[in-house]
Amino acid sequence: MLPPATTVPKAIQLARWLKNPAPVLEESQARFGDIFTLRMTYVPNFVVLSDPDLVKEVFSAAPDELHAGKANVVLQPFLGDHSLLMLDGAEHLRHRKLLLAPFHGERLSTYGDAMLNSALKSIARWPDTRAFTLHAEFQEITLDIIIRTVFGMDDEQRAANMAHAMRETLDLATNPLLLVPALQVDLGPLSPWGKFMRKRKAADALFYAELQRRREDQDTSRHDILSLLLRARDDDGSAMSDLELRDQLVTLLVAGHETTATALAWTFRWLLANRSLYRELENEVLASTENGKLIAERLAKLPLLDAVIRESLRLQPVVPMVGRVVQKPMKLAGYDLPEGTVIGPSIYLIQRRHGLYQDPSKFDPRRFIERKFSPHEWFPFGGGIRRCIGMAFALYEMKMIIGAVIARTSLLLDETTPPAMVRRSITLAPKGGVRVKVQKRR
Ligand code: HEM
Repeated sequence: MLPPATTVPKAIQLARWLKNPAPVLEESQARFGDIFTLRMTYVPNFVVLSDPDLVKEVFSAAPDELHAGKANVVLQPFLGDHSLLMLDGAEHLRHRKLLLAPFHGERLSTYGDAMLNSALKSIARWPDTRAFTLHAEFQEITLDIIIRTVFGMDDEQRAANMAHAMRETLDLATNPLLLVPALQVDLGPLSPWGKFMRKRKAADALFYAELQRRREDQDTSRHDILSLLLRARDDDGSAMSDLELRDQLVTLLVAGHETTATALAWTFRWLLANRSLYRELENEVLASTENGKLIAERLAKLPLLDAVIRESLRLQPVVPMVGRVVQKPMKLAGYDLPEGTVIGPSIYLIQRRHGLYQDPSKFDPRRFIERKFSPHEWFPFGGGIRRCIGMAFALYEMKMIIGAVIARTSLLLDETTPPAMVRRSITLAPKGGVRVKVQKRR
């Protein structure tokens, strides 16, 4: 028998889930406790967990017991069959090993200046007299950063073309209806799926042209992620094919930029609503500069900046839940889960759990200065052998961008009520994008 579920009709539950999963999760948790089932049309039964001990059990299961690739299958048309997010078992481990090296902590400092430059260039263009939305600005910065660090593109025109093609494809892909497999059909150039497929094809043409150019490039001193992947070899000595590289590069672009931009937008929403904290962080950042110049390695080590980012990812995780598909019948918390059930450790519910976090709905970065939380209590990047490979990259990048914004401007919120959450594909973003004004420039 599966854990308890509401009697809300499955189609209504799906519609509510696609609009905003947070109230759906909160209602069921309040009624049933730390393990319950979500039943929705088109989707297998989802067993949601909000108990850290159960999450620990799931994250430490053997790779052949629970598969994550199968739970991500809705993303397959966007990312391709070879995407790391789509793979399971030995193939997943093989690709993960190849992809992990460029994301290793010690490599991050080589990307610090590129990150700061992208942020500073964009901030210099922000309007001085009218309000604007931060989320859109952060999307532009994080996309530029990922194109430069992943592809190592230094040609301005080619970088701009790639950014444009990706933006157009991703803007269409944020429509939550496209996550429903039954609606993933091409009914001509005007249908949502038809439009998306045509944009994807145009972006792919740019990818393959770039791959070709880089295969012909003999420069062995490059440090961008594509160069490292082109040189990477399996244990048996084989290199990645063009199709594999395409799928992994698109995955890095898609998984790596919208998530980070959304996390930044939420961080500023909480920070700007708390002026004394904002000023404290301002002091920390400004004291780390040298004659007004930002130093990547110093920003990376600022304790309050680090705590602010962790607290923002706690209170408002960008991805509310991860999924693992049961491969053979298993027992969890006394329930028998049949093959095909999806287990969903809920990042959103656990990170707002009373008893675990004091006053959980309050934005209070100090809790991360005072103590450490385990990987089953704070896991905005997922966990186990599927934990986000871009975690260190994203945390470092957020430090560079927040540091640059604070060092060059003083911002004011141009909205009064806290924003609602709105779903953009698999992420939860602040509705309205966080409207701000530049109060002064430094
Ligand atoms: C704040 C920013 C980010 C957040 C909140 C985030 C969150 C996540 C989450 C929740 C997962 C699923 C983990 C699981 O199933 O347990 C994931 C996987 C992944 N992320 Fe991120 N991510 C972020 C940034 C990035 C960046 C910058 C990159 C790369 C440039 C990236 C690349 C990936 C990849 C490749 C996977 C698949 C890992 C696997 O299946 O083995 N992410 N991320």
